[in-house]
Amino acid sequence: MPCTIIVGLQWGDEGKGKISDLFSLNMDYVIRAQGGANAGHTIICEEKEYKLHLIPSGIFHPHVTCILGAGMVIDPVGLLSEMDALQKDGLINKNLLLSGYAHLVMPYHKIIDQIEEKEALIGTTKKGIGPCYQDKVTRCGIRVCDLLKPDLFKTKLEQNFHLKREKIKDYNLSFAEVYDSYLEYGKKLKPLIEDVEKKIEHALSLKKTILIEGSQGTLLDISFGTYPYVTSSNTFSWSLCTSLGINPRTVDSVIGVIKAYSTRVGNGPFPTELKGEETQLFDHTTAREIGTTTGRKRRMGWFDAVLVKKAIYLNGVDFLAITKLDILDHIEKIKVCIGYKGQDEAKANHLSEFFYLDQAEPVYEELDGWLCSTKDVKDYKHLPENAKKYLDYLKKILEVKICLVSVGPKREQTLWLYPS
Ligand code: IMP
Repeated sequence: MPCTIIVGLQWGDEGKGKISDLFSLNMDYVIRAQGGANAGHTIICEEKEYKLHLIPSGIFHPHVTCILGAGMVIDPVGLLSEMDALQKDGLINKNLLLSGYAHLVMPYHKIIDQIEEKEALIGTTKKGIGPCYQDKVTRCGIRVCDLLKPDLFKTKLEQNFHLKREKIKDYNLSFAEVYDSYLEYGKKLKPLIEDVEKKIEHALSLKKTILIEGSQGTLLDISFGTYPYVTSSNTFSWSLCTSLGINPRTVDSVIGVIKAYSTRVGNGPFPTELKGEETQLFDHTTAREIGTTTGRKRRMGWFDAVLVKKAIYLNGVDFLAITKLDILDHIEKIKVCIGYKGQDEAKANHLSEFFYLDQAEPVYEELDGWLCSTKDVKDYKHLPENAKKYLDYLKKILEVKICLVSVGPKREQTLWLYPS
């Protein structure tokens, strides 16, 4: 398909990085549209592990041009350090471009994120994402293109230091140091800055293959997620078109990525979260459920079909990619949430049950586990019967075809089903 979008259908960390990496093989362009260094992928490429926050996983394929799009918020320090690490292994060679429209995460954004977090208790990644998007919306943000005009950059930086003087007064932030260091970053990033919007338009007109990689997950969407415990951008498929300035009718397919269970980091409602003895079912290290960005242990829970169905609707998903099936290998009875009990308050107020997720009491269907390793299975046909039953069950209740199942972090630990 010339233009494909990959999105997460849960609270992020669904394993989109690995899936994008696999799809990137057949892509000319891989584009990130929103978010910033709050995202994090761990990719294993030729036995070496890479942790990326800003650069799309397509970078591991030399034929792919990776683009950091207009809707993103870019921390130049983080971007340059990711570039350095990749450059050491010869993985960047004029194949990374940056939109001048993207906003810059400034040191004061990270300070304000920490200050606001003390009150709001969202559990943010403290990467300055929310404060940077606040500036974008209140029209005092500084964009990547501003780095190319030192006088304009200076004026905007002065305005921001003035606007934020009360908040940052105890933090000893030097205007001169920020100004000088950002101009330096600008010089280093200049070769990447291009009219990428035109480039994308041209690529679409030539029917080049394009992968748009969503960040975070649908349930963290600023409008339709578990507000206020969400990130500060829209995260679902069609919103990525807005972030990049492309016509949604140019998109050919949407792939929704889900874990075979649920996780979330940060605070906020999580109806199927494991409680009591059930928390002992998984070991965070073995399950690889420690956040790439913050090192936090992720909260873990059963698969929530109610929320994922809602996410499928929002995104218009064509195919599902199911990740981390292997993490369930040792579970005797696997639960899937198929509804919530007693959503009376929601009904009484004529509101969707999603307004009351903190009170939602899951109704579960229980399935037998397979109790053997799936890590080395190379073909879907050879999965244990109960694993196939679990996948068939998900396919049936979600009413979407599965294109692949992942049974480990490596590329070869992938079972392709399409068409199924
Ligand atoms: P922020 O995006 O740093 O402002 O964080 C807001 C919420 O989104 C917090 O609950 C974070 O833990 C969560 N979050 C942000 N980015 C990601 C991600 O890439 N994966 C999972 N959770 C995320």
